[in-house]
Amino acid sequence: MDTKICDITKWNKETLAVLDEAGAILRDGGLVAFPTETVYGLGANALNAEAVSSIYTAKGRPSDNPLIVHISDIAQCEMLALTWPESADKLAAAFWPGPLTIVLPKKEGVPTVTTGGLSTVAIRMPDHRAALELIKKAGCPIAAPSANLSGKPSPTKGAHVIADMSGRIPMILVGDDCKVGIESTVLDLTDETPLILRPGILTPEAIAEVLGTPVSFDPALYSGKEWNEDPSTEASANDEILEKEKKCPAPKAPGMKYKHYAPKAEMIVLKGSADAVQQALKKLKEEREATGQKVGILFFLAGDFAQAAHDFFAKLRAFDEDGVDLILAVAMDEADSMGFAIMNRMLKSASYKVMQIK
Ligand code: TXA
Ligand code: MG
Repeated sequence: MDTKICDITKWNKETLAVLDEAGAILRDGGLVAFPTETVYGLGANALNAEAVSSIYTAKGRPSDNPLIVHISDIAQCEMLALTWPESADKLAAAFWPGPLTIVLPKKEGVPTVTTGGLSTVAIRMPDHRAALELIKKAGCPIAAPSANLSGKPSPTKGAHVIADMSGRIPMILVGDDCKVGIESTVLDLTDETPLILRPGILTPEAIAEVLGTPVSFDPALYSGKEWNEDPSTEASANDEILEKEKKCPAPKAPGMKYKHYAPKAEMIVLKGSADAVQQALKKLKEEREATGQKVGILFFLAGDFAQAAHDFFAKLRAFDEDGVDLILAVAMDEADSMGFAIMNRMLKSASYKVMQIK
């Protein structure tokens, strides 16, 4: 398939014409990759089961993994969600457009292929002018997972999408690099207590403040955390990790259970005091380089979580492009909610291979 690649970085007549064309492709059941403020999405008409199925094919993704439905107007929730609690109203007013996805019971008209067979639907209004205009022009809600091949790091630059999706879909819209850099916070509002199924840059503290009630994390999110408390200074073997994964509670967001974001390189996360980690890094790097391996170091300025989120996936892809064999990643502070969201991705990328430095 020929893929049309269109630059939409400027807001002008040409861009609006491209968005017209992209909207028509979506309306007719085709796929279009487009930028959002979090990561690039791979869109299809959310109410067209056949169109949505083709997303799974293009990504090579299991079809029990539900997609996020993107809207440009709150009124569109009416055709998607069976209920609209007051909490949803408050959150939409405070955070939409923005990196918050809300899970609610679905209306019958939403195809089960869109929701991965679940009776709930995940909805988000992206904070991106071109994305909003595209949804408007398509005239329907747009189901869109991240526009990467399944298992690869999420795309935060047009070049990432071009690398993964060329030849697989009819159109790629290339905008500026994604502002946020990691995917939206997914919040389940189907139970009494709002539950964060996937952490993001929008924190539970910010959500709780708007709701005036406490917000919890899906316990499955902590499973990785427990494993990291292994005092061993040896990086745990993948098999062991996968054994532990089986014993963890099943996550409520099915997407969280898959191996994700993996760079081609082996990746190890180093945890411990700054000094100890520094020393361990140096030693490991030297050891591996002595065997002829190319080693990359992934670290972010302590405390600058927004920048870390922004750069995270792009850095993983850059290591792969440089032919790095081993990525040594310095853990971020998980006690901070944004740090926790980044660590969620970092640990998955490393397949939970962690070295705890004493
Ligand atoms: O920032 C984002 O959310 C990006 C951009 C493109 O908007 N999209 C994205 O979609 O990350 P995706 O498909 O890669 O991730 C969707 C996540 C998965 O973890 C999935 O399991 C969860 O949302 N999810 C979707 N629908 C759900 C539902 N009905 N119940 C529980 N979890 C759901
Ligand atoms: Mg994804």
